[in-house]
Amino acid sequence: MITLALSKGRIFEETMPLLRAAGISVLDDPEKTRKLILATNQNELRVVLVRASDVPTYVQYGGADLGITGLDTLIEHGGDGLYQPLDLQIAKCRISVAVREGFDYVAAVRQGSRLSVATKYVGIAREFFATKGVHVDLIKLYGSMELAPLTGLSDAIVDLVSTGNTLKANQLVEVEHIMDISSRLVVNQASLKLKQAPLRRIIDAFSGALEAA
Ligand code: PRP
Repeated sequence: MITLALSKGRIFEETMPLLRAAGISVLDDPEKTRKLILATNQNELRVVLVRASDVPTYVQYGGADLGITGLDTLIEHGGDGLYQPLDLQIAKCRISVAVREGFDYVAAVRQGSRLSVATKYVGIAREFFATKGVHVDLIKLYGSMELAPLTGLSDAIVDLVSTGNTLKANQLVEVEHIMDISSRLVVNQASLKLKQAPLRRIIDAFSGALEAA
């Protein structure tokens, strides 16, 4: 049995066409079922639904043989024990720094005073500001980052931006583009040895679907 870890939402939806191109269909709709293990039309392949930030952990420790995870989540996890064969070019977005409209970010950075930054992506934010030589106080949040500058919790946020609508709706502006994000296929290294043939078939199927897209 091969277990593929996916998270609900954008990654699940954008993975389905790639699976379909490989002749694989998932037999349940994750938005309609409470089941966490979903069968597919292939006897030897099942899908497990996990939180996006848990996908690398499931694959690292062998709870799943492979998974699909955003580069943001992968960097924060560290990638230990994960073979990363493919950039699937799905769920594309970017990680940016944003501040309240009217906040003079350039001056704040130039003055060399400490900038408070709220984010779920502490590792990425720390690395980015360290490279710029900007002193930051990082505040770890788990969601609704946009609220932080509006309530005075922080000067800035580091968050995912896709359309930019969430920033706009909250009177925030993007002031730095940190990196582009897309989803990656990650594979457990022990599984790759023990289940080489079926995993290779799936990796090659993803690869073929990408080339055809
Ligand atoms: C992400 C991100 C922003 C939003 C940006 O949240 O944290 O809030 O999407 O998208 P936009 O630029 O298209 O408006 P997501 O919906 O992934 O949920 P999260 O709060 O769990 O991160």
